[in-house]
Amino acid sequence: MFVAVIGCGTIANASHIPSYLKNPEVRIKYFCDIIPERAAAAVEKYGCGMAVTDYRDVLKDPEVEAVSVCTPNNMHSVIAMDALRAGKHVLCEKPAARTFAEALEMQKVQHETGKVLNIGVVNRFNDSVRRIKEYIDTGKLGDVHHVYVSFRSHRSIPGLGGPFTTKAIAGGGALIDWGVHFLDIVMYCTGDPTPVTVTGETFCKLGKDMPNYIYKNMWAENTKDLNGTYDVDDSVTALIRTSGPVITVMGAWAQNIGENEMYIDFMGDKGGIRLQYGVKFTFYSAECGSLVSYEPDFNMTDMFQNEINAFIDCIRTGKKLASHIDTVIITAKMMQAIYDSAEAHEEIRL
Ligand SMILES: NC(=O)c1ccc[n+]([C@@H]2O[C@H](COP(=O)([O-])OP(=O)(O)OC[C@H]3O[C@@H](n4cnc5c(N)ncnc54)[C@H](O)[C@@H]3O)[C@@H](O)[C@H]2O)c1
Repeated sequence: MFVAVIGCGTIANASHIPSYLKNPEVRIKYFCDIIPERAAAAVEKYGCGMAVTDYRDVLKDPEVEAVSVCTPNNMHSVIAMDALRAGKHVLCEKPAARTFAEALEMQKVQHETGKVLNIGVVNRFNDSVRRIKEYIDTGKLGDVHHVYVSFRSHRSIPGLGGPFTTKAIAGGGALIDWGVHFLDIVMYCTGDPTPVTVTGETFCKLGKDMPNYIYKNMWAENTKDLNGTYDVDDSVTALIRTSGPVITVMGAWAQNIGENEMYIDFMGDKGGIRLQYGVKFTFYSAECGSLVSYEPDFNMTDMFQNEINAFIDCIRTGKKLASHIDTVIITAKMMQAIYDSAEAHEEIRL
């Protein structure tokens, strides 16, 4: 199967391209980037494909069956919808889009065309996350009534002043960039419950005085632009009531607390789980009059490889994946409600 990678920046080079190259069914026909050197560098580095700067050239080629959209968020919906309408299957990076309205348009076009539209909620392909879902589904936690989500970092604003911190490009900050993964894990593990009410507040504090933002290192340092824009949330708090558990959210790209606390606590009446984000988890319970806890031992496979393999496989089999737009749209709705609630300073009923 011929595929193309649209947007040849960090995530394309770190995960999509290497994972396609390791999938025996796939050949990458195009590397597309509006920066010609990036597309050309990919051809040179990986020794395959053609470099193009306009994604519409990729979409004109009938041999290309599927594309990865790895551009900044503002181009996700435009490119994904054009690709679907051109008959291509799409794996679009997270978040689906900048707003719920954009994500809904994408879903509509997916329904019209019938082509695959998966979103890069890659944790649905993570071994720890999948095991936690099994723990919950098989009743080991009992009634999971509350989930606490913490994605708090001391200093981790990405690409200060660049696309990540410009609302018109990214749609938001810490919540849409990191929170999307955390909320998605909660939704997946607890069976995609329906959100009912959302109350949230977002704060744009530590990054907005860009010259005086002190940090040690920065993701996407190459996109930093101190003359650019910082108008997104660098921290967020929210309470979401759902048809399942209540979800409490605390997130920060930057905070004046010198800890990085990246975890999710699933609290059930029989057991609880703390997932350390990206790694393993601990199960807590009580047994025969004592408190017990253990860390399950298993091999971790590469979630990005799993995601790409599943994407290719579902194109062949027609199987609907857990990362389909129909599922991910609920998280887009919740994040929009948090932003709307923060703007109105009141609860939103969905
Ligand atoms: N799944 C994850 O864990 C994860 C991690 C990092 C980034 N991401 C997501 O991946 C996306 C890209 O992030 P990144 O860190 O790779 O950014 P990046 O800036 O490193 O790369 C984006 C690339 O897209 C190119 N581009 C922009 N507009 C384009 C267009 N119209 N056509 C073709 N190319 C275009 C840019 O020139 C750039 O090379 C974002 O949506 C981000 O949220 C996901």
